[in-house]
Amino acid sequence: MSLSQFPLARRADQLVGSIIDSSTSLLAAQTHDIVRFAMGAPASEAVPVELFNSVPAKVYDASTYTYGATEGEPHLIDALTGYLASTADPTARERITITSGGMQGLDLAFKIFVDPGDLVVVESPTYTNGSATALSYGAELLEVPVDDDGMIVDELEALVAASGRTPKAIYTIPNFQNPSGTTMSTPRRRRLLELAHRWNAVIIDDDPYGLLRFEGEDLPSFNQLSPNDPLVFSVRTFSKILAPGLRVGWVETDPALQQLVINAKQAMDTCTNVPGQHLVAEFIRSGRLDAHLDWLRAEYQGRRDAMQVSIDRHLGARVRTTNPEGGFFLWVTLQGEDAKIDTQRLFDIALAEGVAFIPGPALSPGGRFSDAFRLCFASCTPERTETGIIRLAAAIEKAKSELSFTVDFEAGLPAGSNGVSHAGVPAGAYTSANQLLEGGTL
Ligand SMILES: Cc1ncc(COP(=O)(O)O)c(C=O)c1O
Repeated sequence: MSLSQFPLARRADQLVGSIIDSSTSLLAAQTHDIVRFAMGAPASEAVPVELFNSVPAKVYDASTYTYGATEGEPHLIDALTGYLASTADPTARERITITSGGMQGLDLAFKIFVDPGDLVVVESPTYTNGSATALSYGAELLEVPVDDDGMIVDELEALVAASGRTPKAIYTIPNFQNPSGTTMSTPRRRRLLELAHRWNAVIIDDDPYGLLRFEGEDLPSFNQLSPNDPLVFSVRTFSKILAPGLRVGWVETDPALQQLVINAKQAMDTCTNVPGQHLVAEFIRSGRLDAHLDWLRAEYQGRRDAMQVSIDRHLGARVRTTNPEGGFFLWVTLQGEDAKIDTQRLFDIALAEGVAFIPGPALSPGGRFSDAFRLCFASCTPERTETGIIRLAAAIEKAKSELSFTVDFEAGLPAGSNGVSHAGVPAGAYTSANQLLEGGTL
């Protein structure tokens, strides 16, 4: 039976999937050696395997394998709020709901706030798993450019004015943004809060990387700038600071929303997996989280530096990169003639060469940024990164020679020659609001 013969819901059209997540299966299916800069996965050396393995014998009993409270295991909530009390961003128990990773936090937020046809602001580029979640609830997306200080909030205001509409939600990743690695400045955070209040729009504050600053000063969160603000819906996860396979995260919301969050979560998965919550709680209770974060910060700074050095050495002026002060990602934009290379085509060539990244168009709902790509510097050791960047340089060379071939082809080479595929996600394919965007600035 073909898909069109099923009695599908209208929303099935809006389930666009995730190119980022699909890269995991694609890479798993490859049999040759590949340097993995694609997924935003923590260093495997960073996973506290020994402690995790010791927890079941100590802590698990039959109650670990039964249903848990939807809002989360009480001892995890205690451990988490206790830990947050020692940071600049403490919170109260009644503001926390444990989720199945950051993705569920995003799903809850969009489910609660977005009706079909609502305007949702997203950064451009953005974490398209987040924008895809908004689309799954029928959102229309407005992409707002990002520069070295995060979302350009002045442009947001102008784009919204031009649309003649009022956004319902603003999806932002304020720290070490996925994919650009840039951080929203404090004045822009303040301005965004003002605009959210003017529009009565919720800020979906997605911050998986904020605890991973290895350079510069921490900036105040939306919650610090506007304590207990009902329009701030914060999405957090243990995926980047502990391990993504745990699928444990949390949301921080106004207490008046919590029952709704719980109701929505009950329609999804009843509760977050209990054994995973025990692992996280025990890790926090062991008192190792601070030392672990210190280790991660130092390690990731070294890995970012190593990637920048390898890029300078092997790609030099052919590319421009952002220089994140934390998190996992560098954003790379091809320069000069190389900018004509479609990074989706480059991905195929690079995969054959043994290196993987996420092409720019996969990181914009409208398929922008065909001259750019995202590299994760966190997953690979400096030696592996050097190998990967050498392979990437070879792939760019090959992609470039295809470009000159394409020119010949267009000048009249025989049909059937193997020219460049320019298959890309067409701009505006996922949203009707994209035409408002004049192009990113990264
Ligand atoms: C910005 C952002 N939000 C949310 C997530 C999803 O987190 P999780 O893996 O915990 O679902 C990620 C993971 O890459 C992310 O980068």
